[in-house]
Amino acid sequence: MATAVTTPPDHQSAPFSEAAGPCAMVLFGASGDLTKRKLAPALFNLAKVSLLPKNFAILGVAIEQLGDEQFRTQVSSFLPAEDRDTEAWDWFQQRLYYQCGDFADPGTYSTVASRLSQLDQQYQTEGNYLFYLATSPKFFASIIEKLGITELSQQQNGRWRRVIIEKPFGHDYDSARALNRQIKAVLAENQIYRIDHYLGKETVQNILVFRFDNSIFEPIWNRRYIDHVQITNAETVGVEQRGGYFDTAGTLRDMVPNHVMQLLSLIAMESPVSFHADAVRNEQAKVLHAMQPLASEDVLQCSLRGQYAEGFVGDERVPAYRTEPGVSSESRTETFVALKLDIDNWRWVGVPFYLRTGKRLAKRHTEIAIQFKKTPFVLFRNAPVHKHSNQLVIQIQPVEGISLSFGAKIPGPILRVGSVDMSFEYSKYFGAAAYTGYEVLLYDCMIGDATLFQRADMVEAGWSVVDPVLDVWKALPPRRFPNYAAGTWGPKECDDLLQRDGREWRKIE
Ligand code: BG6
Repeated sequence: MATAVTTPPDHQSAPFSEAAGPCAMVLFGASGDLTKRKLAPALFNLAKVSLLPKNFAILGVAIEQLGDEQFRTQVSSFLPAEDRDTEAWDWFQQRLYYQCGDFADPGTYSTVASRLSQLDQQYQTEGNYLFYLATSPKFFASIIEKLGITELSQQQNGRWRRVIIEKPFGHDYDSARALNRQIKAVLAENQIYRIDHYLGKETVQNILVFRFDNSIFEPIWNRRYIDHVQITNAETVGVEQRGGYFDTAGTLRDMVPNHVMQLLSLIAMESPVSFHADAVRNEQAKVLHAMQPLASEDVLQCSLRGQYAEGFVGDERVPAYRTEPGVSSESRTETFVALKLDIDNWRWVGVPFYLRTGKRLAKRHTEIAIQFKKTPFVLFRNAPVHKHSNQLVIQIQPVEGISLSFGAKIPGPILRVGSVDMSFEYSKYFGAAAYTGYEVLLYDCMIGDATLFQRADMVEAGWSVVDPVLDVWKALPPRRFPNYAAGTWGPKECDDLLQRDGREWRKIE
């Protein structure tokens, strides 16, 4: 992540620093859904703010039969209409090229190699290549193996070769380790950029700034002052067109070892000694390793799974998970997960982290709530008190901001205490941002900054927390699925997870 100190009000026009150095990008999966929804808009957003390299070209690779011109037309259809008639688009589209090819065919890679040599000459990209694997995970290892065989992965004479790998990275601890082994047989760790798009979100990156660029929070950021932490990641969408993938994965695999663990590690990590990639990631890895994988006998007590039945999300009637396209009518795959996890280190021992994430919930909402302890002595115990507590809430989406709630005297002749908020909203302070979240990740990879990417040990640590739950759940299939109606906050037993500890989930309005 490039750093620059900016102050309002002109922060919008200069979000990063300077254009990346020369390179060509090969986009495997160029006509897929990710390219359409995120990568093409993100690359074009970078072009608009002149952060793509001046010497740059993109070679899309996919199985569809397209020529360069058709690819340009396709990419333009992925962008908002108002962007297509601009100078930036003219510049960008001239650099778009396409190669039809089967990822499993070695011939594809020799063709890619010769097209890259042409692009090197045409655009002076200096033999620096960024390969983006926006493909099904079943191709990850074999694409990388073939990049090795054709020497496309070889860094020599000052030229770099980097590979961005999408999620899911493995489907459990063993498969993630095996995949790491396979790709490390070809690539050095510093060539591998394992992406987690949550790290591209402004508010997620802001956790680091909030914690480590302010002196007032860190002294209270520990077990002496914090009672517990709640991470909520609620989606209103169902499985959309991804039923086939999702039914073999489930919410635990889909969301927890990656996105939720990223949020948790940023909240719980120690201060890094510098803002270099490995300094930051060392601290994230340490805290992930300090998370106690649940013992099998504790799994049922500390975890909960759910699957949605039909229901209403807002005014819209939506179908049950089991009737979604691509999903088995007897599916036992979970679409909701809640977990209670502990971190065994000096800072956090005794502070539970409660996590919940699910699809077809009542509201789209991602937040991290830090619940502080009660005052040691209740001075106003005889005053009519609206229940209040000190809670710091970091809102990730859709509203992006931070709020702190505390008790205040309600005006009037009688002493009454109420709960009030101090809050900061990104859009009010900085204006609405039109970014997808992938811009910073693509740019960082081009400049060789891996801070916002996952290292092998972090991915494996995430899976090692999830694995025992997967094992117990597999051995003891759910008895009562579906167990929540779409449009609610998940199975009602989810409340028990906290009530047993004398706590409750934060109400999300
Ligand atoms: C993806 C998951 O990684 O993240 C999806 O595979 C999920 O199932 C998505 O919907 C959530 O991302 P966001 O940015 O919408 O919170």
